[in-house]
Formats: sequence, structure tokens, C-alpha cells
Amino acid sequence: MRRFFYFRAVVKRKRMFGTQKKENKQFLGVDMENKTRAGNNRTLTLTDNEVKLLRQNLLTIENIFQNTDITNKTINGDILAILPFIPNEFADLIIIDPPYNLSKNFNGVKFNSRSNELYDEYLATWFPEVCKKLKPNGSLYLCGDWKCTSSLQRALERELTIINRITWQREKGRGAKSNWKNAMEDIWFAVKNPNDYFFDVEAVKMKRKVIAPYKIDGKPKDWEEEENGNFRITYPSNFWDDISVPFWSMPENTDHPTQKSEKLYAKLILASSKQGDVVFDPFLGSGTASVVAKKLGRNYCGIELNEEYCLWAEKRLALAEVDKTIQGYSDGVFWERNTLALQHRAVNKKAVNKNKTPANREATSTELPLFNINFEK
Ligand SMILES: C[S@@+](CC[C@H](N)C(=O)[O-])C[C@H]1O[C@@H](n2cnc3c(N)ncnc32)[C@H](O)[C@@H]1O
Repeated sequence: MRRFFYFRAVVKRKRMFGTQKKENKQFLGVDMENKTRAGNNRTLTLTDNEVKLLRQNLLTIENIFQNTDITNKTINGDILAILPFIPNEFADLIIIDPPYNLSKNFNGVKFNSRSNELYDEYLATWFPEVCKKLKPNGSLYLCGDWKCTSSLQRALERELTIINRITWQREKGRGAKSNWKNAMEDIWFAVKNPNDYFFDVEAVKMKRKVIAPYKIDGKPKDWEEEENGNFRITYPSNFWDDISVPFWSMPENTDHPTQKSEKLYAKLILASSKQGDVVFDPFLGSGTASVVAKKLGRNYCGIELNEEYCLWAEKRLALAEVDKTIQGYSDGVFWERNTLALQHRAVNKKAVNKNKTPANREATSTELPLFNINFEK
């Protein structure tokens, strides 16, 4: 009888919440034991086996030397200890998403909010060194929020030439009763030589729905009539409102507290690097810069203090062997938010025309066939 009530309760619970996946391990300080996930939650997880295997890929202060090839590597260590092992003028593109001047817990390592002067001092400990790693014709992007942006600008002006500042309307953010919700970030764009840097605007065009379809002589003016609506292909501005932060139903999502989305980094990488170039991220987090670089045919290297984040990055890199899709970027253009169904329809139609498998197919699970992947590559 007890069993009957138990199964009835389980069925009822499944009906209400969907199937729940339960994590069953304690890992590097995170209590995964009590973490349950909704059935359609695609947040990346690691099995014990994956941890063992992926750990072997990491470079650390113990196994890195002056002549170690750091191309396509994730380096687990403190930026200050690792930078001396990175050759100068090694990167074509550097993307930096440092701890902002906020109190934030990165898997047990707390970064504490401080005065602007002290944050300037913090930047001075690593930023000039990082700039040395940039090629003479290289580009650098530096992310921040309103609070640390003046410090970032000061640090940039000392080392490089600022070309522009992108405002990213990131949508999600915590509301406060006595303040405006913090819903935007800055991404500074700077170069070593303003007369010699690479920028491919054609690679980052956007596909937008046409609200007012203007016609001349009955013909669309700068837009196209398609089966799924009217669209215009436009050049991007420095205001980005088409990118949300990764969330739990997206396959790229991890438990990293400040993960950037692949779509955002895809724009930076496509505009400011070529196939085969090297993308370097000294605060790699969950690996977004390396993963997107790999998906887009670039080389990469990243430094990250936290081992678990490095392992998430490695798993994402392994998954990128088999799935190169970037949510929000397909068919050579960036799509607006909430257009996944339209993107699928457009790409599938093309694939059917070419008699191919749909290119924009998404992985249905984040489980990784690790044993089929050659990590030596
Ligand atoms: C803002 S997050 C980067 C998130 C990343 N862009 C992503 O998409 O996941 C900053 C990262 O810097 C790492 N970090 C902080 N201090 C560091 C240090 N001294 N050396 C290396 N990494 C550090 C933190 O652990 C954190 O993951």
C-alpha cells in the first residue's frame, strides 16, 4: 500500500514539475547533491569520468614551461602566475571579461567591491601585461558595467587606442526598490595600431524583421519578402539589443555566475579576427571565448583560476567538436531575440533544398560521447 502511495506521489510530482534530474555529487566545493534540475534544463554538468578525463587536458603552473605550446589550451591558474608563460605578441584578438568592481563569489573565491582607486590599482597589476600579448595589428575587447567602466577607460587609454564602446542591453538583471535595474554593460573596443587592424563588418550583419515595409514602385526598399515574413539585412551599430544572457534552457548554459553568451562573443570574434587567428581570454570563466573561437575556426587560449570552470570550458570545447551551432547566429547572419523557430525554418529549408541534414540542428542533450573524441588534437 505504501508503495502505491509513493508511486502516486511520484507521478503527481512529475506531472507538476516534469522529470527532475538530480545531481549526485559534491564537486570542488559546490554541493551538487541537493541540486535538482527541471527536465528541459540543459545546463551543463560533469560526470566523475568526465572530470578525470578533462582534467588531463588542462595546463597548470605545474606543467607549463616557457616553451609549452599554449595554442588551443585551457590554463588553470592565476593570471599573474601564468602570464609570464604566454609569449608576447601571441594573440590576434584578446577578449577580457574581468571581475567587475562588484562583490561576487566565483566558486568560493570572492572578489570584493572596492573604491575606484583600488580597482584602478587592481587593473594595473595585470592589464598592461595582457596588452603585451597582443600582436601589433591586434584588437582587444574589454567588458564592464557602469560602475567600473571609467576605470576600464583609464586603463585602456594608457596602453591602446580606443576605437569604440559597445553598449549591450543585456535584459536580465536584478531589480532594486531604490534604484534603476542594471540592464546594460559596456564592451570597449581598442587596438594597438589605429591605422592597422582587422575589422570585417560583412561578417556580423543582422537580420531584422521589417516593421514598416516601405516600397518604391511596388518593390521592397532595402528589404526582402520571405515565406516567414519581411526581413532586412543591416550593418550592426554599437548598441546591441539582440542578445540575452545564457539561461537554463540553452545548451551553452553552465552554472557560472557571469557567463557571457556565445552570440555576443561570436560578433566580436567574427568582426575582429580571421580563420586561423588566435583568440586569447585571460579570465576564461566557463570558456565562452575559446568555445566560440573553436566553433568559428579560430585558435584559442584561456586562463582561469577555478578548476571546475576550466573543466566546464573543456567539456564545452569537446562538445564543439560535434556541434558548431551558435544560438542566434545561423545562415551567416545574426538574428533578433526569440527567433529560434524562424531560424530553424530558414536553415532547414536551405538544407532540404540542398538535400542535406539541417545544419542548425541542436544537440538534444549535453551528454558527451567523450570516449569518441580525440583530445590530443
Ligand atoms: C566575469 S568572469 C568571466 C566569465 C566568462 N566570460 C564566461 O563567459 O564564462 C571572470 C572570471 O575570472 C576568473 N578570475 C578571477 N580572478 C582571476 C585570476 N586572478 N586569475 C585567473 N582567473 C581569475 C573568475 O574565476 C571568473 O571565472
